[in-house]
Amino acid sequence: MKTELISNGVQRAVELLRQGEAVALPTETVYGLAADALREEAVLKIFAAKARPRFDPLIVHLPEPEWVERVATVSDSARELFARLTGEFWPGPMTFVLRRQAIVPDLVTAGLETVAVRVSGHRVFEEVIQSFGGPLAAPSANRFGRISPTAAAHVLEELDGLIPLIVDGGPTTHGLESTIVALRNERIELLRRGPVTQERLAEFGEVVVVGPTQHPEAPGQLPMHYAPGTRLVLVDDAASFAVPSQRRCGLLSWKPGAAPGFVEVRRLSERQNLTEAAANLFRHLRELDAKRLDLIVAERLPDEGLGAAINDRLSRAVARA
Ligand code: TXA
Ligand code: MG
Repeated sequence: MKTELISNGVQRAVELLRQGEAVALPTETVYGLAADALREEAVLKIFAAKARPRFDPLIVHLPEPEWVERVATVSDSARELFARLTGEFWPGPMTFVLRRQAIVPDLVTAGLETVAVRVSGHRVFEEVIQSFGGPLAAPSANRFGRISPTAAAHVLEELDGLIPLIVDGGPTTHGLESTIVALRNERIELLRRGPVTQERLAEFGEVVVVGPTQHPEAPGQLPMHYAPGTRLVLVDDAASFAVPSQRRCGLLSWKPGAAPGFVEVRRLSERQNLTEAAANLFRHLRELDAKRLDLIVAERLPDEGLGAAINDRLSRAVARA
């Protein structure tokens, strides 16, 4: 299959989606691989292109918040909290795990009784989904377990020849996948850290962090995920890391300062800005991964706000099988 990469692709994307194809679209977090969420044979194309195991459920993107009631149910006890959170964060980088309705295919939820839903605020994504007029299942547009794409060129690297279309909307704003929460017992369970930080969520209610686990309710919580091909270690301070001689080491740094011994250096943010660091993270990791290094050394960030979300992705890049 020939993969088209175009920036004015809204019309073409809608056409292909209507034909039951999977197409890559920009969102404010990372690029997604979208297909008609209510059509099993369309969703199958996502799993095929990504080589994604069937046990990993997909996020269902909705044209409007009002669509929630057609694919999910919000419990009475969570209703008020849900309304306050969506009022603040939708459209945006925020996903809710809710009880599913029967209309959602089992393939999308991996047989779970819940479904993850989000409304994206990316201009191109909004145009496509509103013109399409229904929910789109869309995981990140990378092969399973790999680094999420934050630019159209990354999607091409991952899925060239496997999908008909990539709509180029430029680099994504946040650079990290959406925050995923479940609302249970009037508390906010944080299932995946992301652009909406724990601190922000805490303004709306009690937050319980559900860490990565080997027995995930959600397989995206598997410790190994977001893995580059190159071995990666996580350190507090690269200045005190002794680069082994004869080894080609790359550095993904947070702290300023010299980096003797490293053959490639990428700085997450020269001005120590967490928002900028998040936006750069996957691009830098991808670039370092392409340099055929023996080792990537990554510096841990302060474990607060977006720093905690970035550390989460870095530690999963370490925990490789
Ligand atoms: O920002 C994002 O969320 C991007 C863009 C494209 O929207 N999407 C994304 O999808 O990151 P993906 O498939 O790479 O990660 C989705 C994760 C799953 O791996 C799983 O952990 C969680 O969402 N998920 C999906 N359905 C779930 C459910 N019913 N219960 C718990 N977690 C669920
Ligand atoms: Mg993903």
